[in-house]
Amino acid sequence: MITLPKELPTLLSAWFRENARPLPWRQSITPYRVWLSEIMLQQTRVEAVIPYYERFLEVFPTVKSLAFGKDEVLMKCWEGLGYYSRARNLKKAALEIVENFGGVFPSSYEDILSLSGIGPYTAGAIGSIAFGLPTPAVDGNVLRILARLSRDREDVLSPVLKRSYQEALEKIYPEGKEAGEFTQSFMELGQKICLPSGTPKCRECPLYHLCQSKDGAYAEIPYRAPKKQRKIQEKTVFLFLYEDTFALRLREKGGLLGGLWEFPNTEGFLSADEVYALAVKMGLSPLGAEEIGESKHIFTHLEWHMKGFLVPCEKKGAEGFVFASQKDIREHFAIASAFRFFKNFIQDENQY
Ligand code: ADE
Repeated sequence: MITLPKELPTLLSAWFRENARPLPWRQSITPYRVWLSEIMLQQTRVEAVIPYYERFLEVFPTVKSLAFGKDEVLMKCWEGLGYYSRARNLKKAALEIVENFGGVFPSSYEDILSLSGIGPYTAGAIGSIAFGLPTPAVDGNVLRILARLSRDREDVLSPVLKRSYQEALEKIYPEGKEAGEFTQSFMELGQKICLPSGTPKCRECPLYHLCQSKDGAYAEIPYRAPKKQRKIQEKTVFLFLYEDTFALRLREKGGLLGGLWEFPNTEGFLSADEVYALAVKMGLSPLGAEEIGESKHIFTHLEWHMKGFLVPCEKKGAEGFVFASQKDIREHFAIASAFRFFKNFIQDENQY
């Protein structure tokens, strides 16, 4: 558990008041304006957001105008900003505000968090900036600044570290106007002084005297643990075709993709001759084995590299497969998406 200096809010809020850029969402603060700015600023630079922000407010000046506005107009306002799900969620949340909160932007952290498109960071930002709640908004800026401040070499992407900073901040977070200033001071410091890449401007930093990374350790902090290599499994996938049906198999419950259907497959890359021989052994009376292409599927810790073969057969064999038509496969079988390439192969391009 880390402990943060208790003078942090006073120092940073005072610095923010002196150094804040006069950005449009800082001019007249309302929950709607703060909300819109925070959504637009997700994954988008301040300079890019400003013209969109101003135009959006001209077209949709209130929550209600957004809730009842036209989708085409909304999308036009967002055109070029990217990540369009943000715009769709904004409208959805505006309707939620109308339906669940009488058209008034909710003022508790839990209610703000309940709105579509708002996660813990954005709820913390809106809570503190618009309502003066002592709710931290922990993003990359906050993690970088606090990790450098305390010379913390733990993996900055670890959820445990994030939680411990969140809790340490909750202990010292101010309320009222200072809450919003404190939140925004991290954004401002992160963008202007404690830079993510390049040399930070330590001499201009209001935390210089407290910072334990100013000797150059900032170059290695925040530390990111190298990603673990994913294990690669090679597989051969069989499209056993009998009349106009394909063999399917149910994956074992409890295991990876358990309870979903798959095309039969085996470990390793087999040659066409090996596939043919295997089909003979299975009692399928194959007529041939034609390679149809390769596909990859990536899980969190695992990659499947798959090679497929089309194997027309004269018998169903005794393997316990279920043979299903293209239509049934499309409509009635939940096939694991790892096999999408092979499902598409039999659906789209080929008539059997
Ligand atoms: N990034 C996210 N929110 C911001 C804000 N309110 N001001 C500046 N940059 C931000």
